[in-house]
Amino acid sequence: MKDFFSLFMKYVIETNQLSKKFNIGKKNEIEVLQNIHLQIQESTCILLKGASGSGKTTLLSILGGLTKATEGEYICLDKKISHWSEKFLTAFRRENIGIIFQQFNLIQGVDVWTNIALPAIPTEKSTKKLKEKVEKIATQIQIEHKLYANINTLSGGEMQRVAIARALLNEPMIILADEPTSQLDSDNSENILNIFQELKQKGKTIIVTSHDNRVENSNLIDKIIELKDGKIVE
Ligand SMILES: Nc1ncnc2c1ncn2[C@@H]1O[C@H](COP(=O)(O)OP(=O)(O)O)[C@@H](O)[C@H]1O
Ligand SMILES: [Mg+2]
Repeated sequence: MKDFFSLFMKYVIETNQLSKKFNIGKKNEIEVLQNIHLQIQESTCILLKGASGSGKTTLLSILGGLTKATEGEYICLDKKISHWSEKFLTAFRRENIGIIFQQFNLIQGVDVWTNIALPAIPTEKSTKKLKEKVEKIATQIQIEHKLYANINTLSGGEMQRVAIARALLNEPMIILADEPTSQLDSDNSENILNIFQELKQKGKTIIVTSHDNRVENSNLIDKIIELKDGKIVE
C-alpha cells in the first residue's frame, strides 16, 4: 500500500550522481563524495550516519546550497538548484532551508535575540512581528531566558539551542541538522526531538546527522542512510 501512495508523493530532495572533490588538480586532491543518489520524500526524517570523515557534513552543505557539487545534479523543491548563482541560492535558502551547523556558526559579540532573528531580518519589515516570531521560537526551544544575553557568555548547549532556534525561525520546508543534540542534556535533546517530530507532522522534511543513540533510536527517524568513505552503503 505504501508503495502505491509513494507513486504520488513528490520528492523534496533529489540528487543524481553527485560527487565532490576538494583541491582539484593539486597534489592533495581528495574525493569526499561519490555517486550520491538521494530521493527524499516530504514529511520524512532521514538520519545520515557514518564514521567521522565519511562526508556527512559535506553532503549536508551541498543539500543546503552552501557548497557546490563537483559533478551531478541537485533538485530541491522541484528546482534544479545545482547550477544556480549565489545570489539566487541565498534567497532560496533563506526561504526554504533551515541549517543547524555542527559548529553553530553564531555571530560573536551580539545578543541571542539578534542571532535568532537573523534569517528574518531581510524580509520581515514589521519589528513587532519579528519580535513575536523570535520570542515564540525561543520559548519553544527553551532559550527565552537568555534572549538578551551576549552570545559569548552562553554554554555549549545554550549556543546549540540558539542555532536550532535560528534555523527554525522562518519555518523552512527543509531542515538540515548536523549533530543537533551533540551538546544537549537528555531533557533538551528530548525537547528537540519532539519539536522535530511536530515539524515532520506539519509536512517538513528533516535530514539529521548524529552519533547520538537517542536520535537513532527515536521514532522520529523514518530511514537511515549510511555513508562510508563518501559513498552510500547499500
Ligand atoms: N574544505 C575542505 N577541503 C579539503 N578537504 C575537506 C574539506 N572539507 C571537508 N574535507 C574532507 O572531506 C572529508 C569528509 O569531511 P566531512 O564531510 O566533514 O565528514 P563528516 O562530517 O562525516 O565527519 C574529510 O576527509 C575532510 O577532511
Ligand atoms: Mg561532520
